[in-house]
Amino acid sequence: MDLFDVIAKRASVRAFVPVKVPEADLLRIADAGRRAPSGGNRQPLNFIIIQQAETLRALEKVQACFATASAAVAIVADPAASRWWLEDAAAASENMLLALTALGYSSVWVEGTLLKEEDHAKRVLGVPAPKRLIIALPIGKAPQDTPQADKKPLQDVLWRESYGKKE
Ligand SMILES: Cc1cc2nc3c(=O)[nH]c(=O)nc-3n(C[C@H](O)[C@H](O)[C@H](O)COP(=O)(O)O)c2cc1C
Repeated sequence: MDLFDVIAKRASVRAFVPVKVPEADLLRIADAGRRAPSGGNRQPLNFIIIQQAETLRALEKVQACFATASAAVAIVADPAASRWWLEDAAAASENMLLALTALGYSSVWVEGTLLKEEDHAKRVLGVPAPKRLIIALPIGKAPQDTPQADKKPLQDVLWRESYGKKE
């Protein structure tokens, strides 16, 4: 799929039907995260691939979507390693969302609900206390074609040369 098609196709999906996610696909998705831009190239992130049904079920407390996911990738950041750990995690997350979309899977950027259950999720995944478990991406197959949420029209968010200037 062309990159611009992938960008337009990526959509948040929060319930999945089972699908086999081969190891090679999981590695390609995690590798897309590893290749994201990183402030000062400090690379303060680790990625946890989750495949065991029991672990996915334990993450249901974070958000229900993990219970039906076939796999997941969690992003762990070391705030001591970079002041830009949050921006780096966001860049890695989007790279992985685009990668898994290109491979035919669906997901959703889980951060808001993870923040509320971070201690629980860190225990489930064995993440050391000083590290942050900031974003997790369930990976699965959408039960039906899901369009991306409505976006503001380009002409409403775009200025030319200076703020507020339309042409
Ligand atoms: C920083 C951030 C945090 C998010 N946290 C959650 C979350 O905890 N749970 C969830 O279901 N979606 C979460 N989302 C996904 C957004 O709700 C979603 O991207 C938005 O509704 C637009 O839909 P789209 O992804 O289909 O374009 C988050 C997205 C971002 C960028």
